[in-house]
Amino acid sequence: MLFYLETLGCQMNVLDSELATAQLMEAGHEPTTDRDAADIFLFNTCSIRQHAEDKVYSALGRLKPWKAAQPGRFIGILGCMAQKDKELIFRRAPHVDLVLGPGQLERLSTIIAEIYGQRGTRRLEVSLVRGEHRHEQVKESFRKFDPLRRPQVRKNRFQAMVRVMLGCDKFCAYCVVPSVRGPEQCRPHREIEEEVRILADQGAMEITFIGQTVNSYRYKNGETTIRLSDLLEKANAVNGVERIRFVTNYPNGMTDDLLQAVRDLPKVAPYFHVPAQSGANTVLQRMKRNYTAGDYQNLLDRIRTTVPDAAITSDFIVGFCGETEEEFQQTKELVRTGRFKNSFIFKYSERPGTQAAELYPDDVPEETKRLRNSELLEIQDAISLELNREFLGKTVRVLFDEQGENGQILGRTDCDRIVACEETPHLFGRFSNVFIDDALPFTLLGRVM
Ligand code: 5AD
Ligand code: SF4
Repeated sequence: MLFYLETLGCQMNVLDSELATAQLMEAGHEPTTDRDAADIFLFNTCSIRQHAEDKVYSALGRLKPWKAAQPGRFIGILGCMAQKDKELIFRRAPHVDLVLGPGQLERLSTIIAEIYGQRGTRRLEVSLVRGEHRHEQVKESFRKFDPLRRPQVRKNRFQAMVRVMLGCDKFCAYCVVPSVRGPEQCRPHREIEEEVRILADQGAMEITFIGQTVNSYRYKNGETTIRLSDLLEKANAVNGVERIRFVTNYPNGMTDDLLQAVRDLPKVAPYFHVPAQSGANTVLQRMKRNYTAGDYQNLLDRIRTTVPDAAITSDFIVGFCGETEEEFQQTKELVRTGRFKNSFIFKYSERPGTQAAELYPDDVPEETKRLRNSELLEIQDAISLELNREFLGKTVRVLFDEQGENGQILGRTDCDRIVACEETPHLFGRFSNVFIDDALPFTLLGRVM
């Protein structure tokens, strides 16, 4: 069968989609980029904000005629929204055949084989709900899914993501992740190390360790505990690996061993994505983030003392429940003083079932959220430009990984900056030294040396 798979959301979803594609191919199905040619339409969905869900429901509306146009067509909803909305998806879109949560992906092709082409046999496959069952049972129901890798289904052969952990136990008040992705579970370090070696043998030069709070990684091996810094050290020793990155970090877990590993291991990129979310202690408290703005500022200082050339990026939520003008000013101040390479700024979106949805009204008007969002972006963009201008006249190392427009090729520096160059043959998939001669807020422009 031909399947078309569309992916929304974060890197975790991108990796899940890659692995699901490999699994479906293993079962004899073929991927297609033409939805009209497809027999199976799969959506790997995201629940982090309402907007991401709205997109799926409206796309599902448009898929009604797609499904009716040919007998035997099949629609599957995978990922976080499947876990969150469950049978509600069938109620809102009765033409959906399968709803399968992220903790059930390893059974995707088996379940499709069981129900494909059988009328009236739609299936709901999700993990247990946290709080409704014993913790161990819930954990088990979010099954690990990291099968052997197939290089040909990756975006390219030279970059690969490796999951080091599943789920999240932080329970930030606004966030749906701990419920849709389940309890935190760290993969055994040997499995991760083996996967890095296999990927390197397959040609992966850049490895990105991913986890919801990747720096919380801990794995007990007898008497010793393996931490993220240990994983970085192991990966650093693998032949063929040239650059190692890790996302996303939780501010409280940035221990000295991790900062030192980034400083000392030559292949580890000096890049830290550490979301602050807000610069106001009162908001951070309502968000249940377990640190103050002062703690966060100290963390920035610690990172910069240990790794002076570090690029730091952050996430912020504006318009969280009860956010006053005064509180927002404090966030602006943190963005000004934090000097982030860039920040991702989101308008607060209430998520059913989260603590914030239960405890506080979503009372900041949409218009205020919008204004705060653009105000913060404006401050950040000016800083991003200033920091990028420091690269003028310097030479940076770039891994080219994307064809741009107008004959340009795009890549990233070790510090995660986007660089655009005029296309010359053989740059794709290679590390090159680039002389920077122009800087925009989001892009450096240069010439290959
Ligand atoms: N509303 C808006 N933004 C959110 N994020 C997480 N939950 C929400 C929400 N309910 C943002 C946080 C997080 C990023 C991945 O998404 O900033 O770091
Ligand atoms: Fe969500 Fe907080 Fe976990 Fe990040 S750390 S996934 S924001 S609950």
